[in-house]
Amino acid sequence: MKHFTGLKDLGPEGLEMILSRALAWKGQYPKHLVDKILGMVFFNPSLRTRTSFEAVMNRGGGSAIVLEVGNGVWKLEDRVGAIMDSDRSEHVKEAVPVLSRFVDALSVRTFAGNVDDELDNFDPVMSAFRELSTVPVISMESAREHPCQGLADLMTIRENFGSTKGLPVTLTWASHIKPLPKAVPNSFLLTAAAAGCEVRVAHPKGFDLHPSVLAEAEAYAKAAGGSVTITHDQDEALADSRAVYAKAWGPNTHSGLGAEAMLQPEWMTTRRHMEKAHKDAIFTHCLPVRRNVEVADEVLDHPSCKVVDEAENRFHVQRAVLDWIFNG
Ligand code: CP
Repeated sequence: MKHFTGLKDLGPEGLEMILSRALAWKGQYPKHLVDKILGMVFFNPSLRTRTSFEAVMNRGGGSAIVLEVGNGVWKLEDRVGAIMDSDRSEHVKEAVPVLSRFVDALSVRTFAGNVDDELDNFDPVMSAFRELSTVPVISMESAREHPCQGLADLMTIRENFGSTKGLPVTLTWASHIKPLPKAVPNSFLLTAAAAGCEVRVAHPKGFDLHPSVLAEAEAYAKAAGGSVTITHDQDEALADSRAVYAKAWGPNTHSGLGAEAMLQPEWMTTRRHMEKAHKDAIFTHCLPVRRNVEVADEVLDHPSCKVVDEAENRFHVQRAVLDWIFNG
């Protein structure tokens, strides 16, 4: 049974297959998911992920059932051995096998807790769904990765530059009002490394990505002929870069840094930063974005900003993933 909850489920060859299929099908609407039902389980809110997955199922001739945990659906417990005396009325040990009897695949959104980096890296809720489901499980973002976002990011870069082999791309940490999960930066790093990019990651001290993610990215880069560089110098990371990806994420849980460390206005992406990059550089972001906190209006309103194309590409890559899962 195929799952897609992290880039490891595809590997570099699978990544190329999904990107090729997504690019080839753009603008076409084959009925390739007739009678298929996708169960969509949301522990956290969404705009793009929900609508893009539902659109894929509806346009492909299938359908989706959306469940918002705690909103008309029992709150779910995932801890093994939990004494269930809280407001979490149902355990995933029953809920996931039951849902598996009604649908052809389950997709799940569950954010990181951001209180224990090791627990977030283990990805407890997504791991439980993988273990307990009898149908394929697809990530709509979990504690460790947002793999469909990573695919859409790379599709957008491919559309603009063709080959990604050796292409300099920069993931730059962004100022924010609160700590955010690391799933999006993890997936951008992993996917760009697997696509052979020269990936630069810039962040302030105390905001390191997890060592297991960095090791996985290094292995992909080595195999694909790319590279991964981590720096605290934003200008150095941006120099001559072809794609600038801004993203806020929280401090390491053992860094001693609190939520106040998130507001660092010098890390808001402005035109000054874009001018450090290549003159034809594009700007990308997963959205939602807080204007004039993470990214200045002048960047988001500039023709080099590709965030809407990038959001549209969520549809195309997810359609390719569902086609791979259901049709091979
Ligand atoms: N980028 C992304 O996943 O957007 P949503 O949170 O709106 O789904």
